[in-house]
Amino acid sequence: MFSKRIACIGAGYVGGPTMAVIAMKCPQYKVHVVDVSEPRIQAWQTDTLPIFEPGLLEVVRAARGRNLFFSTDIPGAIREADVVFVSVNTPTKTFGEGAGKAADLQYWEKVAREILRESKSSKIVVEKSTLPVKTAQTMENILNANGKEIRFEVVSNPEFLAEGTAVKDLLDPDRVLIGSRETPEGLRARQEIVDIYANWVPQDRILTSNVWSAELSKLVANAFLAQRISSINSISALCEKTDASIQEVARAVGMDTRVGGRFLNASVGFGGSCFRKDILNLVYICESYGLNEVARYWESVLAMNEFQEARFVRNMIREMFNTIVGKRIALFGFAFKADTSDTRESPSIYVARRLLEEKACVAVTDPKALDNARTDLAGFAGNMEFTDDPYAAARGAHAVAVMTEWDLYRSLDWEKIYRSMEKPAFLFDGRNILDHARLFDLGFNVYPIGRPPLKHF
Ligand code: NAD
Ligand code: UGA
Repeated sequence: MFSKRIACIGAGYVGGPTMAVIAMKCPQYKVHVVDVSEPRIQAWQTDTLPIFEPGLLEVVRAARGRNLFFSTDIPGAIREADVVFVSVNTPTKTFGEGAGKAADLQYWEKVAREILRESKSSKIVVEKSTLPVKTAQTMENILNANGKEIRFEVVSNPEFLAEGTAVKDLLDPDRVLIGSRETPEGLRARQEIVDIYANWVPQDRILTSNVWSAELSKLVANAFLAQRISSINSISALCEKTDASIQEVARAVGMDTRVGGRFLNASVGFGGSCFRKDILNLVYICESYGLNEVARYWESVLAMNEFQEARFVRNMIREMFNTIVGKRIALFGFAFKADTSDTRESPSIYVARRLLEEKACVAVTDPKALDNARTDLAGFAGNMEFTDDPYAAARGAHAVAVMTEWDLYRSLDWEKIYRSMEKPAFLFDGRNILDHARLFDLGFNVYPIGRPPLKHF
């Protein structure tokens, strides 16, 4: 009764939302999402989804049980599928050759072998995870050394969604990229994947390319995005020294249509599971081809991010009279960006760790990410508290540091917060989202990013 059977291995931040949108938009396909993690799969079957994404529950509800299914039956999903998307995690390798830079492909290879073991018919295997360029070659080598009468075509279809806007990004993507071999079989497989997206994405936004370009474009897209943030953050340091305003500079630069105004918000630093990992991966690939200058160029994007995070903490300590021992510091936000519960590589982890090392008491508040925050800080010694109430976090604090650009922080009763804090009260706005002049008038000493501070002494 279904015209196509799609399996997706990996029910995480990418696999779950992507498949939910495909299922909602294409009731004629059966979409089966599988994962090794029982709790994750169970959560996908309830209305308490394993990840927080605005609008996602509605999409899941529209298709779940109709043509969208979640289970741990990986062999069953593979066997019945015509198309298998692979969306497992590809973290940075922590051991052996390439440790700290190369992608750890153990989960990926395990899946390839599982697909091979379970398959009884030819299939298209789609790389949805972000992978080093040339991975499709390895995948094909494993899959097609099978001694069975079946063929696998490997297609690269990297995902460009950003967390917090995943549903919108999937429903209305800037582009969808599909790379394949340029053989007749490769082109047929490419068309099959184009046909899936063509159910709702305009044809002119579906790009096709050779498989290596698609793999590499994903790493490069993330490197370029991260580079913009590091560029603007580097200039924020200069603004703080020169009475220039980073927002005014970003506006002036971004209005040049060749540059563009988006993604130029200076911040405490970028986080998220991918920018760092994908740039490290790019650096490793460049090094392995002997392109050391290229590797150093991209590495500097990460070095600038680390500088920005370190600078933020150093500034806090210096301004709070060079000691924060025993001082309560409230971190407003722990998620790596607003509208997500994800804290992977969040600058808050680094900042909290450094403040704890300086023997401050850290009070963490976040509307969605507290459970992850507890896990992230579990291994650190020191005095820490967790609360979903920002007023409680700030009570008795010497400083508030805004770490995540949650909208709710803009509309808090900042006068009430000021009254409840120790004096002098410090406010470090790591996201430049607050009304700094007003906070200064209330009595705060205010430290924006990329603008001179507003101090009462
Ligand atoms: P994730 O950790 O949230 O999800 C990966 C899932 O794969 C986990 O649930 C894990 O249990 C499962 N898994 C691992 N090995 C498995 C196996 N052998 N069989 C079945 N399931 C297995 O990761 P994610 O954030 O969804 O990222 C997945 C990939 O997509 C990564 O390569 C990432 O770089 C890329 N990506 C992520 C984003 C993002 O916003 N998070 C955006 C674009 C691309
Ligand atoms: C990013 C990319 O935007 C996606 O296209 C890509 O698919 C994804 O990585 C991935 O491969 O995982 P994501 O990390 O979810 O998406 O979120 P972003 O909106 O890119 O933000 C990343 C970090 O940069 C956040 O910490 C954010 O606060 C920070 N940021 C972003 C800034 O500091 N300034 C900005 O102007 C924009």
